[in-house]
Amino acid sequence: MSMPLPPMGSIARGVTVALTALALGSFGLTAAESAQTRPHAAEPTHTVGHDNTALTIDGKPLSIWSGEFHYWRLPSPDAWRDVLQKMKAGGFNATSIYFDWDFHSPKPGVYDFKGIRDVDKLLDIAKEVGIYVIARPGPYINAETDGGGFPGWLLTQKGKARSTAPDYLAAADEWLSRIDPILARHQLTNGTGTIIAYQVENEYYQNTDDGHAYIQHLVDKARADGITVPLTGNHYGLFTKELDIEGYDAYPQGFNCSSPDKWQDLPDLSGEKKPGEPLFLAEFQGGAFDPWGGPGYDKCRQLTNGDFEKAAYENNIASGATMQNFYMAYGGTSWGWLASPESVYSSYDYGASIREDRQLTEKYLVNKRLGYMVQSVAPLTKTEKATVAAPENSALLRRDRRNPDNGTGITVVRHKDVDDKAEDTTHLALGDYPSVPQEPGTALTIDGRDSKLLLSDYAMDHQQLRYSTSELMTHGTFGPRDVALLYGRHGQDGETVLRYADRPEVQVISGRVKQTWDPASGDLRLNYRHDGLTQVRITPPGSTPLLLLLADDATADTYWRLDTPQGPVLASGPELLRTSAYGDGVLKLTGDTDKAANLHVVTGTPATSVTWNGRPANGALDSTGTPLAGPGPVTLPTLGSWKYHAETPEAQPGFDDAAWRAADKQTLSADNYGFHAGSIWYRGHFTATGAETAVKADATTGRGGRYLAWLNGTYLGSSDDATHHFGIPSGTLKPGKDNVLAVLSANTAHQQDWSADDSHKEPRGLTGASLVGSAEQIGWRLQGALGGEDLVDPVRGPLNTGGLYGERHGMHLPGYPDGAWQSVSLPNSRKGAPGVSWYRTTFDLDLPKGQDVPLGLTFKDDKAKHYRALVYVNGWMAGLYVNDLGPQTTFPVQPGMLRTHGHNTVAIAMISEDANGDGLGDVSLEAYGNHTTPLHYRDIASPGWSAAVYRAPRATADMRTGSRGARPAR
Ligand code: GAL
Repeated sequence: MSMPLPPMGSIARGVTVALTALALGSFGLTAAESAQTRPHAAEPTHTVGHDNTALTIDGKPLSIWSGEFHYWRLPSPDAWRDVLQKMKAGGFNATSIYFDWDFHSPKPGVYDFKGIRDVDKLLDIAKEVGIYVIARPGPYINAETDGGGFPGWLLTQKGKARSTAPDYLAAADEWLSRIDPILARHQLTNGTGTIIAYQVENEYYQNTDDGHAYIQHLVDKARADGITVPLTGNHYGLFTKELDIEGYDAYPQGFNCSSPDKWQDLPDLSGEKKPGEPLFLAEFQGGAFDPWGGPGYDKCRQLTNGDFEKAAYENNIASGATMQNFYMAYGGTSWGWLASPESVYSSYDYGASIREDRQLTEKYLVNKRLGYMVQSVAPLTKTEKATVAAPENSALLRRDRRNPDNGTGITVVRHKDVDDKAEDTTHLALGDYPSVPQEPGTALTIDGRDSKLLLSDYAMDHQQLRYSTSELMTHGTFGPRDVALLYGRHGQDGETVLRYADRPEVQVISGRVKQTWDPASGDLRLNYRHDGLTQVRITPPGSTPLLLLLADDATADTYWRLDTPQGPVLASGPELLRTSAYGDGVLKLTGDTDKAANLHVVTGTPATSVTWNGRPANGALDSTGTPLAGPGPVTLPTLGSWKYHAETPEAQPGFDDAAWRAADKQTLSADNYGFHAGSIWYRGHFTATGAETAVKADATTGRGGRYLAWLNGTYLGSSDDATHHFGIPSGTLKPGKDNVLAVLSANTAHQQDWSADDSHKEPRGLTGASLVGSAEQIGWRLQGALGGEDLVDPVRGPLNTGGLYGERHGMHLPGYPDGAWQSVSLPNSRKGAPGVSWYRTTFDLDLPKGQDVPLGLTFKDDKAKHYRALVYVNGWMAGLYVNDLGPQTTFPVQPGMLRTHGHNTVAIAMISEDANGDGLGDVSLEAYGNHTTPLHYRDIASPGWSAAVYRAPRATADMRTGSRGARPAR
């Protein structure tokens, strides 16, 4: 692979190397070794820049094939390694990462970069894995996350966000002053990390003087903070003056996954290239998000499936894109209150290549083929549009480019109408050949929705490829020989022409190949059908031989390529190859299997032996291969016995709210009182005249949220309307006395600020309430998460809990004393009351060692029941289940958060809106897959309940009657 990236393992050890001879390897560093590679002065530095068509590293251009990944949506640092290794093995040489301000800062001046927030560790892992990083620290990130990445405390600022308003800029600088130095430490330019680019802001479209001043401020700040890599954007070209590389974002399929079989046009984005800069698709569709009530992520994956990716990404190459980042490669989970409600629910699976549960999909394998190809074919980094005759079949379209230095031709062929599902055949001119394929009776076949990227006049290592109607997956020099892997759809004809000075010897090792030698031109033409694996060895006299692997799609997908500083390695058989390294004559491979497999290795460096996950696998070098075992069976515990407890004391008139925060700020919006996540309780006191007939409430809970109201302990109902009239049932009022209106605002998180119009400042919770029938004023107090901005649980951070009674008392935590609670089993058929009830259970796991079994919790219930449930696993809010809205019914929980060899606690807070609501439906532990793996997932810190932090449970102590505290003005 002609990748100019220095092997960072060597660099970390201070070895100077000839850069041109090196390849992007999996550097074979263990985590412990990589921890020692933290910056030190002796590390060789690099330059990162760009020319007119590509990003350059140490002056050499390279294609960037990147996948978006958000560490904050994967709260398990060992799982970061899993996903980054999967990305690297899947053909991504880079990952683009948003750094989420909101995730790190609960309060002005307070920042946390420990545990699941350890960004240093994340970037060390990226270096260990050998993947470049495009860092995107915002300050605004959008990303379908709470406030678009703005912390809750920023929401009450007066100044307009994303402008030069002084209060906003001061806050933004505060964040950047924390995150930039970390990013600076991990830049490739220092030799100490793999960051190759830094994005300034996100999709910022304010083409005004202030907009430019704001971007310039961020540019100056980044540079002042030590950022030396190119500064990039995704602002539709508005900031070419300020930035080094202005990128472009495109989601041609859109975000409606309910018609997953309908394709939209594939745009020609060549016009988005900026003079003197590469065409950088900073975000190109790699999936789609799904809203509350949406069709679910399997449909999004269908909308953006492998066929779409292949057609769209090859189309981008035909537009001249040399830097593509696919959003998302791995989406993950918007756990806690990370999900911005107007766009998404808890799962951020995104229909991406790698599922939320970290398993690989069909799309991943298509991506792998393309990623390997762009990293193999160096001439792609510099191409110009070429005009050629249209294909013979007018249903088809071709788009061509040519490298002006070496003449390499790139031809992309597909249907003109992207929705056309017909199978069409054609002949077309390729290179010097007026009609390809030449073999009589054969044709180039384009299936409905297929797209082919064909190469011509390509100097492929020591070979001259005249053209091939098969697509190239990868090629390279493996020791004494060249190896090239080409593929096509099963059953389709293929024709490959190579040119030699003298007639080469051709040996067909497997499969059937017709060879035609033309002594006049020196053309060796091979004709074959893509069917399993056809292997041909071509030995030209006096020159380097070529092993040609001609595969059908499915066979090509079994191949993995991971390079080492000693040369490339190609392996086939296992579900995943994670790492490859040479040492002492041993080729050490690690990876996963999901079933029994046979490992074959193609390597150029003489290895006396091979190991797979540390065990001998020498047969891999022979034609027979080495058998690898699949995973052993796994039995999961049933979640049989639960503890149950109904709370909602806040709704009762006698509840003591004296210590609650008085709503004394001319607003009821919770953010103004330092409560930024989850549920908020309000209690309003008024003296009734007796004439009141209804309560008119105004609230904004966020999409998917709901608010419930009680008067003097009587349930009035619930709503998700912005304004709702709750009728007062007769006999509920207490004329002349203190009346208590209690409102539970079960909020979702904050809006984003995509248009830079402060829409993230939309309040959460009650915004007003008045009485219908009297002018009596209501005096309010409110309550949110324990401690507010002063976190009582900094490990889990600012977005884990809200203000439910149970959350404030630690009922979600391991070790909460639930011994006196009622024992129940699920489904719980008992009639309940509206409001909050808790279910808790524990179970032990001891998964087989060396196996990765992605697990989650699955709900089954009658959709007619109106409730939501906060799902806590070992104290972490893994997701929000809304029974009557959906679509999410299963909640993946990552190993680390889930103790795969230990004791686990599940706590579910059910908020029922039904006046006589039934209990909770069925909840079970589900395995989504089963894999052998060399990785270990350490438990993340999950502090348990303590009486010191969470007051001892006093079921009735809060219920002293008569105490109502001072009555704040409103
Ligand atoms: C883009 C934005 C991303 C994300 C994406 C859709 O507009 O930059 O942050 O929101 O859309 O998933």
